Amino acid sequence: MTETVLLVGGGGREHAIARALSDSDAALYACAGNRNPGIAALAEGFEAVETTDPEAVVAYAEDVGATLAVVGPEGPLAAGVADALDDAGVYAFGPREAEARIETDKAYQRRFMRENEIPGCPEFETFDETAAACEFIDEYDGDLAVKPAGLTGGKGVRVIGDQVTAEQAKAYLRDADYDRVVLEERLVGEEFTVQALVANGDLRTTPAVQDHKRAYEGDEGPNTGGMGSYSDATDELPFMTEADYREAVEILEATVDALDGYKGVLYGQFMLTADGVRVVEFNARFGDPEAMNTLPVLDTDFLDVLVAAREGEALPDLSFASRATVCKYAVPEGYPTDPQAGATVEIDADSAGDALLFYASVDEREDGIYTTTSRAFAVVGVADTITEAEGIAEDALAFAGEEGLDVRHDIGKPDLVQRRIDHVAELRGE
Ligand code: AMP
Ligand code: GLY
Repeated sequence: MTETVLLVGGGGREHAIARALSDSDAALYACAGNRNPGIAALAEGFEAVETTDPEAVVAYAEDVGATLAVVGPEGPLAAGVADALDDAGVYAFGPREAEARIETDKAYQRRFMRENEIPGCPEFETFDETAAACEFIDEYDGDLAVKPAGLTGGKGVRVIGDQVTAEQAKAYLRDADYDRVVLEERLVGEEFTVQALVANGDLRTTPAVQDHKRAYEGDEGPNTGGMGSYSDATDELPFMTEADYREAVEILEATVDALDGYKGVLYGQFMLTADGVRVVEFNARFGDPEAMNTLPVLDTDFLDVLVAAREGEALPDLSFASRATVCKYAVPEGYPTDPQAGATVEIDADSAGDALLFYASVDEREDGIYTTTSRAFAVVGVADTITEAEGIAEDALAFAGEEGLDVRHDIGKPDLVQRRIDHVAELRGE
């Protein structure tokens, strides 16, 4: 039977999901708030829908006769879109609202780890009063990460001793006056992501990826949704051992065991510290940009995973090409603090050369494609080594031109990768 798959979401991550399904025996339909020209080109239908409105998504799913759905971003998951689709008889690959709390409520996430004795949990306290949180900052012996408990698009965390002083962190809390915050031990090390496909109590892991959250080269500037990312031709990254990767996988396994009936992607953000692997956070979806590293090297048909998940069967083993990937986002100038929309996007799939092109938040008009105030598009190089993949991504960016755009050119370059290796060696006292 040919499946009819509804893809919810219109970013770079969803373009990567659409591409992964484009060779499958599936009719693809998509809905998003923005018209993503890359997804629209791959889909048989593309509808402008408020994706955090479960009824609107279900109406479109029923309209197109969807037999499966993939929910890309966290916003719709938090709004109960997977629940609504499931309840309407359209199996959604994505957790129900209650299970998505692993991402959408950081206080719940830490308590869940503590209660279930999931390894890798930092010391933490949760607060629902700004004054009490500020007092804790004053009294705590050491640096803390300050995290609003709810969703902030990856931009809400402030790390004392890294981005801010204790005084600035308190001023930030007083200013923002969040309902609930988590204060936790600052983890020092190298971050990496491992994403797992989960259903029916099964979990299948994908190669580690390193994202770059800071806006400017050299890991300076404010946090962003992610400026770019790389993966190696093996499961682990150059600064990790196989044992580090396994430690992360074991944490994901323990988490899936403790979560009842979770389905979709479980994304682990880890810190490789001097004392081993620690959990920075969990997300309930693919990473953006990490999906653009992972899905292009997935040799297994992604549709087979979705169908097995829906049918209550064991998930197929995943097979990945032994290839490295480097993904670089082009973002509007001034992103994320003062982004200037309206630059023209000159690149398309044909002109990207050997690189893959994924559109994100762009605005397709009659006379061309324009940037908005969020990440615009990403180019991904896939090759035998990180260095070659980086070169392929850079060639595509050179073609695209950078009028009105910012790019972190340092991502995936030998210098930056070596700094990661040296950092971990230093932490381990090597
Ligand atoms: P999150 O929104 O939880 O992913 O946090 C955003 C970023 O803040 C992470 O990618 C880390 O770089 C940083 N961060 C979060 N928690 C911690 C922590 N406990 N220690 C150090 N850095 C952290
Ligand atoms: N790359 C970070 C995220 O998707 O949350």
